[in-house]
Amino acid sequence: MNMQHLLSVDQFDRDRVEALFAVARAAEPVARRRKVCRALEGAVLGNLFFEASTRTRISFAAAFCRLGGAVCDTTGFTFSSMAKGESIHDTSRVISGYVDALVVRHPERGSAAQFAQATCIPVINGGDGPGEHPSQALLDLYTIEREFERVGREVDGAHVALIGDLKYGRTVHSLLKLLSLYRGMRFTLIAPPGLEMPAELCAVVARRGHRIDVRTTLRQPLEQLDVAYATRIQRERITDEAIDGYTPEFRVDKAFVDTCCGPRTVLMHPLPRDSAPGANDLGTDLDTDPRTAIFRQSDSGVAVRMAIFATLLGVDQKLLGPLPDAGWRSPERIGPDDAPFYTLAAASRGFGAD
Ligand code: NCD
Repeated sequence: MNMQHLLSVDQFDRDRVEALFAVARAAEPVARRRKVCRALEGAVLGNLFFEASTRTRISFAAAFCRLGGAVCDTTGFTFSSMAKGESIHDTSRVISGYVDALVVRHPERGSAAQFAQATCIPVINGGDGPGEHPSQALLDLYTIEREFERVGREVDGAHVALIGDLKYGRTVHSLLKLLSLYRGMRFTLIAPPGLEMPAELCAVVARRGHRIDVRTTLRQPLEQLDVAYATRIQRERITDEAIDGYTPEFRVDKAFVDTCCGPRTVLMHPLPRDSAPGANDLGTDLDTDPRTAIFRQSDSGVAVRMAIFATLLGVDQKLLGPLPDAGWRSPERIGPDDAPFYTLAAASRGFGAD
């Protein structure tokens, strides 16, 4: 796959997605602490986060380390020279003199592309304001494929609901475009008034011949969903919109799932979710439901991000060859509440049938 940077899901077609996922599958035993890989030994990543992040920053760093590389990072504006007025161009060019790849998160739409213009090393968009979050969408799609495989179905023809702040939520912007590469999709987009999916993104999906149903309430009956993908309201990006429609009825909880989801629906969220009591987000009352894939989804971030690095830096073949065993002991399950089918061993086989 000849790709210099990862800036947008627009760079993908289905073949490219499948090629990347083949590498992610090969990376899985390393991400799951069963095997060890040193393909990036000696390489250094610059992990530049000018916005809040926990999982994206750490999982990119963990992915690079699990390939044998090392990570240098900076977090927030306050402790970076951007606080002294330095431009994206200068920051990008300077750090490129120190490292082999850059992951950048910055509050401005289009900022990752600006970083890329100033450098010849690979730049990965870790979230450009309300624009895109391509690595998240790739790991979301990878998770959907994995969850569907377990129950013997394909992504083509799926009914996917994207729920919450669809205007500022960059993960759903990238995911909607990526899923629209599949055939015969059906999307139900549910956002409070004022926070609807941008019209140009709906137009892309409609042009590709998929069905789109736009709603402003969770209360209307829904035909059974294959995937329910909830998102957090992006309060940090909301300026003057009234969000009166964002009422407690907007909560994706057990009551919603009992009415709109079947036994095989996959429940997803990019995380973080607002876990405060009464928050209008994915309810914690679904945490022990095996359909809730949110932590399997976040876990997938390491394998998918390893695949992104291995592809951009040209070491993907090394992951596909035999790898030595890890020399330390890991627990069988990652979390005490993991679904019974979800053990580290099963996860590296693709959740298997156990
Ligand atoms: C998302 C983001 O930063 O866009 N988080 C993530 O990277 N998994 C979603 C969010 O912040 O709501």
